[in-house]
Amino acid sequence: MTDNHIEVAAARQQPSQDAEASAALERAQTLLGRMTSAEKIGQLHQVNGGYSELEQQIRDGNVGSVINEVRMDTLNELQRIACEESRLGIPLLIGRDVIHGFRTIFPIPLGQAAAWDTQLIETCARVAAIEAASVGVNWTFAPMLDVSRDPRWGRIAESLSEDPYLCSHLGAAMVRGFQGDDLSQPGAIAACAKHFAGYGAVEGGIDYNTTNIPEIELRSTYLPSFKAALDAGAVTVMASFTDLNGVPATANEFLMQQVLRKEWGFGGFVVSDWDSIVQLSVHGLTANDAESALAAFDSGINMDMNSGVYSRNLGAALAAGAISETQLDAMVEPILATKFRLGLFENAYCDPASFPAAVNHDHRELAKQAAMKSCVLLKNANNTLPLLRETITSLAVIGPLADDGYEQLGTWVFDGDAADSITALAALQTALAPAITIHSARGVENTRSHNTDGFDAAIEAARQADSVVMFVGEEAILSGEAHCRADINLPGAQVQLIEAISELGKPLTLVIMAGRPLTLSNVIDKVDAILYAWHPGTMAGPAIADLLFGVSAPSAKLPVTFPRVVGQIPIYYGHKNTGKPPSHDTITSMEAIDNRAPQTSLGMSAFYLDAGFTPLFPFGFGLSYSRFEYRDLSLSAATLLPTDEIKVQVTLQNTGPCAAEEIVQLYIRDLVASVTRPVKELKGFQKHYLQSGASIRVEFSLSRSDLMFCNRHMEWVTEPGDFRVWVGGCSDTEMSADFRLEA
Ligand code: GLC
Repeated sequence: MTDNHIEVAAARQQPSQDAEASAALERAQTLLGRMTSAEKIGQLHQVNGGYSELEQQIRDGNVGSVINEVRMDTLNELQRIACEESRLGIPLLIGRDVIHGFRTIFPIPLGQAAAWDTQLIETCARVAAIEAASVGVNWTFAPMLDVSRDPRWGRIAESLSEDPYLCSHLGAAMVRGFQGDDLSQPGAIAACAKHFAGYGAVEGGIDYNTTNIPEIELRSTYLPSFKAALDAGAVTVMASFTDLNGVPATANEFLMQQVLRKEWGFGGFVVSDWDSIVQLSVHGLTANDAESALAAFDSGINMDMNSGVYSRNLGAALAAGAISETQLDAMVEPILATKFRLGLFENAYCDPASFPAAVNHDHRELAKQAAMKSCVLLKNANNTLPLLRETITSLAVIGPLADDGYEQLGTWVFDGDAADSITALAALQTALAPAITIHSARGVENTRSHNTDGFDAAIEAARQADSVVMFVGEEAILSGEAHCRADINLPGAQVQLIEAISELGKPLTLVIMAGRPLTLSNVIDKVDAILYAWHPGTMAGPAIADLLFGVSAPSAKLPVTFPRVVGQIPIYYGHKNTGKPPSHDTITSMEAIDNRAPQTSLGMSAFYLDAGFTPLFPFGFGLSYSRFEYRDLSLSAATLLPTDEIKVQVTLQNTGPCAAEEIVQLYIRDLVASVTRPVKELKGFQKHYLQSGASIRVEFSLSRSDLMFCNRHMEWVTEPGDFRVWVGGCSDTEMSADFRLEA
């Protein structure tokens, strides 16, 4: 395929700064003219709350932002000092990790991603912002936009999927939720697109590890979600800890200048990650703090999170002429502009009376809805679920996560309170007693414990019950930052516990709470049903109880691929075809190999002798209590002209016994291009709730821009040629049609 017709996509500038942003910029420039160099450097300094000399540092104009302080009275006092006792009265940015809720905790981002619901994500972020703003926080370090395809990595829990398209749409929705339409409105907080960039590609799934990402892969897979977040108006970006192709992101001019500012026209500011500037010498990029400060400053990192290295070194760098006053102004200006946009110069103080109470009924209801829409039904043999009240008189509720209000919250929860949680056991007791007797037992002390002393009580509880639900998985601490696992089986003695319970022959359901895909091959055949709940947050209990008893039907779909075994990683749906793609009729399992089989006899293609080439569960997979049928896929045209769009239609019918919601997915493949293309790429999704028997005609529009890709010259282009489009309820859908893109 020759690039005989290349349409290079104009580097879409970040939405032009509207009047409000422009006014803020002008005010920032005016203020800059009154600032000393020391005061300018002070704005680049973010200090951890509780720091002993914090108040004096603020008074002296040496602090631009405070992180990890959420006591409202303290924040109002710090703002008062900044506004009334410092020379220029510049208010503070108050940063906090509001990752999946503040006091009301929603499912972890990976769980929210399983809902494939931009409106839901936006609403959850809105509530999180309101609760955070009600104590004085005005900046969150979210959304985390790292595409992640390695469940060994603890931070996959924070990711919004393995797919650039889904991650982009969900991340942009989270930005809109945090920032609202006007940053100066009460309850709006600044968003932060993190971790820029490529963090999800850490080698071996080990956190903070090296990332080696070819530019074409960086642009195709890891950058789009950040561009989408900035297009949605995110005003800040956080640099990643990681070494990208030999140059740590925190000193990476290609990322921070070439891509972020030159190509994308980003007008906000970049904050380092925690101490990531001083870590440049640990990486071996610099010899000392002074060099680290310079390397980060020159690359375009505006603000230093926590380390103080800017505060200690930029004055001398300025005096020595290593940096200029003009450079310094350019780094401070967007920070001041953000403060103006947040309305902090008009009012930096928090008045809790202007906010609703945290964890109120509405917030709880939203958290329940989010949890219900995030749980993925992975298995439901013999229609074990939903459990029917009419047919059971007793239920066994077993496992270390059935009644643990803390663990169900998941990772990155600083301000949630386990006391606010409603656990699954509590919800089931409320919903079922006294008509249905509940027998409960932990079975094991925690998810890591190998102590089986609790097995007998658990087995006895199961023996007495008509049906058994086990709540197993990972404690929150086993996922999140720096919490990576080389073996992603259910930890501890949980597999043995499941085996022991399954020998009783009772209907057995697993509810799995975890911060990552787990390898379930060792339990999947021992249970009848599996509901994957991720870490579902404050309202885990009511949500899971409603799903288990069919008050609502599960509708979620996997935002990440589930490997059969950890050795398959990385495994994801949007892979390349290779020159030797595997197929079921060409591969051989290890058991089936003949003795002394000749070298070329096993199917020369891309697969594992001991694990094949397919995942346990593919991206986009999720069962329902009903069944959906797709038929009559049609395209409005066989060719797509550059200025047109093609309508893709399919009939969706709920052919099952109950009303349910389906997430309809659309994928494409560019069959021939000047660079190899993924075998499938998600390019659309819609959620449809249908009554049993009902059907609708679902329509997607595909335009030329949906077919763009990054070519070997790093240009976003389309090329004429043949395309295939699929529609279905999972990435492995085979319902397809072809069309041609004309020059
Ligand atoms: C961290 C994380 C980052 C977080 C920051 C502040 O180490 O990498 O995601 O926002 O510190 O807590």
